[in-house]
This record gives sequence, C-alpha cells and structure tokens, in this order.
Amino acid sequence: MEKIFVSGGNKLKGKVRIDSAKNSVLPIIASSILTSDTIIIKNAPMLNDVQVICELLKSLGCNISINKIKGEISIDSSKVQEIEPSGELVRRMRASFLVMGPMLARFGKFKISLPGGCNIGTRPIDLHLKGLKALGAEISTEGGVVEVRCNKLKGNKIYLDFPSVGATENIMMASTTAKGVTVLENAAEEPEIEDLANFLNKMGAKIYGAGTDTIIIEGVDRLKGVEYIPIFDRIEAGTFMIAAAITKSKITLENAREYYMKPLVAKLREMGVEITSIEDNVIEVNGNVQLKPVDIKTLPHPGFPTDMQSQIMALLATVKGTSVITETIFENRFMHVSELNRMGCKIKIEGRSAIIEGVEELSGCEVKATDLRAGAALIIAGLVAKGETIVDDIYHIDRGYVNIEEKFRNLGAKVYRREV
Ligand code: EPZ
Repeated sequence: MEKIFVSGGNKLKGKVRIDSAKNSVLPIIASSILTSDTIIIKNAPMLNDVQVICELLKSLGCNISINKIKGEISIDSSKVQEIEPSGELVRRMRASFLVMGPMLARFGKFKISLPGGCNIGTRPIDLHLKGLKALGAEISTEGGVVEVRCNKLKGNKIYLDFPSVGATENIMMASTTAKGVTVLENAAEEPEIEDLANFLNKMGAKIYGAGTDTIIIEGVDRLKGVEYIPIFDRIEAGTFMIAAAITKSKITLENAREYYMKPLVAKLREMGVEITSIEDNVIEVNGNVQLKPVDIKTLPHPGFPTDMQSQIMALLATVKGTSVITETIFENRFMHVSELNRMGCKIKIEGRSAIIEGVEELSGCEVKATDLRAGAALIIAGLVAKGETIVDDIYHIDRGYVNIEEKFRNLGAKVYRREV
C-alpha cells in the first residue's frame, strides 16, 4: 500500500497553482443529468471523488470521457436511465447522493441507497428529503433505500432547519425545472453553492441569490449543454496557506481569490500571518512572522470552515500559548487529535472543543489519516516535525487533493509517496 513520507525542517518557497474545487465539481457533474446536451467541465481536478461520481453517472447510462492531460470531463446524459445506482458506490462517497435531485427532476422518480455516515459524523439526509417533499415528492425509505417520486415538481417556499450544503444543492438542482418558483431560506452560503448556481444559470436556469441565505429559483422548461470552469478549491488554497505559516515561509498561490477565503484569511491575519492579494487570482502568503494563539469556532460560511479545522489545529499546535477550537458542524471531527498528539502536540478534547497548548517542537512518527482534511493536517505537521513522519491511509487524502506530495515538493518540501 502507498504511504506519504514527510521529512521536516525545510522552508517553502515559490508558487503553487490551486486546482478547481472538489465540492464544486461534484454537484456540477451531478447536475449534468438535468440536460440531454453535452456538458464540458474544464480545469477539472482529477481526484478520486471525481472518478467515483463519474463512475456512478456511467452506471446510470451517461457517456463520460475524461481527458486527464487537458483536465477536461465531457458528460453526455442523453442516454441516462432511471436505475438504482449500486449501494457500494453510494456508500463509498456520500456526495453520490447529489444525483437524487437531478434524477428526480429528470425522471419523476428515483431510488438510491441511503449514503450512511462516515468517520466525521452520521451525516443525515433529512433536510434533503424535507426539501424534495416540499417540492411535491413522495418519499419512502425501506431496507436502507430511499425512493422519491413526483411526476412534476412544483416550486415552494422551503426553510432549511440548518444551512446544509448538500441539501441546498439537491433542492436547487431539483427546482431548476420545477413548475413555478422555489424560495429556499436559511440556505447554505458556501462559495461552491454560488458556483453551482452560476453553472446552472449558464445552462439556462433562473437562480437568484446564491451565496446568500435566500435563494430564488424560477423553474424553466429545459437546460442546455455548456462548457464551464469551476471555482478554485478554497480548502486546498487554505491548506497551502497554513503550510506556509507553520514553516515560516513565503509562497505565492495562483488561481486563488481572497474574496472566497475571508473567514480563514481573517483568522490567519489575526494570528499575524501576512496575506496580500497581488492580482485577482494571486495571493502572496508570508508566514515568517511571530504567530499568536487564537480561538476558532467552525460555522457555516461565512463562518470559519470545518474543512480547515484540522489543518489550522496543526498550525496552532506549534504556536506558543493556548488556543481553543470548537467544532460545531460535525459531531466527530477530532480524530486527528490523537494522531497529532503522537507527534508531540499537546491537545485536549473537552466536549466539542479542543484545547491546544503550543509546543516548541514536534517529532515525526507513523500516523494515520482519519479523513481527507485530517490527512492534510498530518502532512502540515510533518513539515516542521523533527525526523520523518509517515502518513498511512492516504486514500483519504487523494479524495480531496491532486498530487499533494508533488505540489509540496515543488515548493521545496521533502514529501514523497512510496509503495510499502
Ligand atoms: C459538504 O458536505 C462538503 N462536501 C463537506 O466537505 C463539508 O465539510 C460540509 O459541506 C460542510 O461545509 C461536499 O460538498 C461534497 P452539510 P455536506 O449538509 O453537504 C447536518 C470535505 O472535506 N445535516 O452542510 O454533507 C450534518 O449532520 C467534505 O471536502 C443534517 O442534519 O455537509 C452536519 O452536521 C467533508 N441533515 C451538517 O449538517 C441533512 O439533511 C453539515 O452538513 C444534511 C446535513
């Protein structure tokens, strides 16, 4: 099996180009089912999760070609059929559930196995189902499979109990061709929601207010094929910003916009990191400064992103003083704490908070990735740990980062992937 080996002590320098956002590309691929025309996604990140959702669409009859060199995915859903996807595929990646809204809109019925939880939480889908029910769908769940039926979805006013990203996306996609207007309140405001709406509007949808807590969708008769370049991955960008901070380095991020990274940038600046937008899509990060401890609470956007929690924890573990991180989004997203403590971090969990006492030095050792962002956090810690850090279960990391070791090596870090 493959592991990632990190030798600590190197400073970073130079430029890193950020890939397109996994959490944008996945719903965009799912929504290609809404049209029989061909969709072409450019600058697509060749991630494992992207492969999985393409595999899922192919199993439904979509014709997909992936050009890894050009980073292009072409999707022809003209021959998609209303069949139940394999439960194994759906459970392998929860985001598979994002095909439910588009399939219901296209066929008036759809069956899919419940996605189940994952390491970081039970990951319920009650809000997805509540939204589709409000649009007129009849819903039944039996034997771990959910079936939704409705000949013609009708627009409605929906208030989400929690601004769920996935539920917002499923409801928005299903509403694009519903009869009448849908008003979605307490909607998720993540940049990837805005990007999905921009993609759907380019296809001919009429969506207003995406990126705010109220999204209005006017149903249209049909959507057409388009070419699209998704937004950059703000979590990958944030991961490299934090790597620069922990190694006290100065690096430049290309294809990254500060506007979509405000909560993280504000917190890093509060710590003392110097972050400068050079041009619209270029950010310079200088971590060669004295850093201060901070307190963080993860919240829906524009709050601090839960997907940056483990990475900034690794950074705070090396900052003199006491920092507190409270995780409010997922009920079990502190599994990286025990792995970081193996490296000499001093982190204590109290309920939904982690109390972090900064230490002078970390020591490399064998650790395990427990989710894709936790894996990135262990690499970040390894960059400054004495000796070698060996990260296992790196399949988690490959779900969300393209060639992460190569990108770090190009910045001067000693990060290698080896078969062991
Ligand atoms: C998306 O997951 C992202 N995944 C996650 O990124 C991200 O951590 C999460 O949003 C929060 O920002 C993709 O976009 C593919 P949610 P999603 O629905 O849609 C509760 C990564 O690292 N909830 O906003 O599943 C749920 O229990 C991944 O790239 C309900 O209660 O997130 C959780 O506590 C990890 N009922 C909270 O909302 C529902 O019906 C956030 O879930 C749905 C969600």
